Amino acid sequence: MKVTIFGTGYVGLVTGACLAEMGNHVVCVDIDAGKVDRLARGEIPIYEPGLEPIVKRNHADGQIDFTTDAAAGIAHGDIVFIAVGTPPDEDGSADLKYVLGVAGTIGQHLERHAVVVNKSTVPVGTADRVREAIAAELAARGVGVEFDVVSNPEFLKEGDAVEDCLRPDRIVIGSSSARAVALLRKLYAPFNRNHERIVVMDERSAELTKYAANAMLATKISFMNEIANIAERVGADVEQVRQGIGADPRIGYHFIYPGAGYGGSCFPKDVQALERTARGAGYEARLLGAVEAVNRDQKTKLFELIARHFNGDLRGRTIALWGLAFKPNTDDMREASSRRLMEALWAVGANVQAFDPEARGETRRIYGERADLVLCEHAWDALQGADALAIVTEWKAFRSPDFARIRAVLKTPAIFDGRNLYDPATVEEAGLAYYGIGRGRSL
Ligand code: UGA
Repeated sequence: MKVTIFGTGYVGLVTGACLAEMGNHVVCVDIDAGKVDRLARGEIPIYEPGLEPIVKRNHADGQIDFTTDAAAGIAHGDIVFIAVGTPPDEDGSADLKYVLGVAGTIGQHLERHAVVVNKSTVPVGTADRVREAIAAELAARGVGVEFDVVSNPEFLKEGDAVEDCLRPDRIVIGSSSARAVALLRKLYAPFNRNHERIVVMDERSAELTKYAANAMLATKISFMNEIANIAERVGADVEQVRQGIGADPRIGYHFIYPGAGYGGSCFPKDVQALERTARGAGYEARLLGAVEAVNRDQKTKLFELIARHFNGDLRGRTIALWGLAFKPNTDDMREASSRRLMEALWAVGANVQAFDPEARGETRRIYGERADLVLCEHAWDALQGADALAIVTEWKAFRSPDFARIRAVLKTPAIFDGRNLYDPATVEEAGLAYYGIGRGRSL
């Protein structure tokens, strides 16, 4: 099938690559000419396992092309995806200017029937606004072309994006048009594998499904962080509690890891946006407000533990950070807990020596050169001359370090384990002070 995708960000690029991999002819359109050139040369702007070979191979085979030419893109696609960003605007609502901008462009160039598919995470009612924006441009041109608008939210996780896209657990198609549903069923048939994964519903339900999924996952995390905060005050170990509750299949083991707070481009933004949507509809989403508030506080947790350990005297101290990205297997620093920690440390005159397998470049891009930030090539380099070590991202490489060696290198041997990677007893036996999240020993 002929597919066009507007936006070569995370969602657009991964979707395009996976659809090309399934034999479709994909044209990716982006306004950023530099990015389009780089992609055409096989340079992938994000770190995402497995993405590069798929893009390179399909580009070499002519299955995927990159262009800034919107008109050519629209002429190509029987199905036109909108996968551009929806950044939060000042009040936390999703800003639809890019989505509606693409919709307008589609209306300006559409010459024949197309199914326009919204993949960006957009507030409920956006499909209607996209439809209106396209129709307004068609009317202005005096053209009577038919089109359908579908909401088809994306559920991929960064770091697992290719896998999630090639092997989705469900495919939500929000549309009231039988013609559009039939076309998308055909497009997604190869992704069904051993059983039907397509769930068809109306546009608004599909839009809300996306927010509900992310809000539910964020709620699980904030809930566990709250339990962790209770645990450390009553002398319990949240890790034992986690295993105790996860065994109940109604709760499950997934997404109940307490830690230094959730980050990324999705949860913080989507929880806020859903809250605003609810408010706009005359409902105060109290639970969502609490999920957000707990997370905001949780992001300062590591700093509080460090400050308490050093009796508030952090000026001139050096803290080593293992992990900068908001989670492992990505270089994404958006809303990363490491940022809150570094900024808090700098604010009191402490220095940071950090290592992350992928996010050093992104960190440098955000913070620039500064005397109180050293980005290290190797995990062990970050410990040289440092007072203590904070674990901020749970990269596999950090899971079983040589604690005796850490003890020997650190000046004031202490580990602040923001992801509860280690067994407190093992760390303490090695002669280090151990602080985790909600482990009964943190206060
Ligand atoms: C999230 C959702 O998991 C995807 O299903 C969704 O498609 C995506 O948002 C999106 O809307 O595009 P992502 O932001 O890539 O995916 O990352 P997650 O793996 O969900 O992690 C989010 C944050 O939660 C990370 O900071 C992670 O460290 C934290 N987390 C996760 C916890 O603190 N505890 C957990 O138990 C799980």
